[in-house]
Amino acid sequence: TYVVTENCIRCKYTDCVDVCPVDCFYEGANFLVIHPDECIDCGLCEPECPAEAILSEDDLNDAQQPYVELNAELAEVWPNINERKAPLDDAEEWNGVEDKLKYLQR
Ligand code: SF4
Ligand code: F3S
Repeated sequence: TYVVTENCIRCKYTDCVDVCPVDCFYEGANFLVIHPDECIDCGLCEPECPAEAILSEDDLNDAQQPYVELNAELAEVWPNINERKAPLDDAEEWNGVEDKLKYLQR
């Protein structure tokens, strides 16, 4: 399965949702997640993310491992998103900033 990781936080470009053939993205205020039971592992979303926040579960580094559980958890409670929308206003400023997990809005 594919996983949305930290660099999506406070950016939320949403380019990813437009290419997903099974519409398995779920949306919070400043982050998106992938439902692990719905993702068919096609890999189409990975190159679309301007923040390079989407990775295969197999490619996660140690610091990114908690995002497996976070995607699974939040995909159960957040609403589905299947159409691209404008990124967050200050997405460019936050793209690449480290240690953004503390800003995640549940
Ligand atoms: Fe959707 Fe494919 Fe990305 Fe999974 S890998 S979230 S199915 S686009
Ligand atoms: Fe987030 Fe990248 Fe999608 S920033 S909303 S994972 S395009």
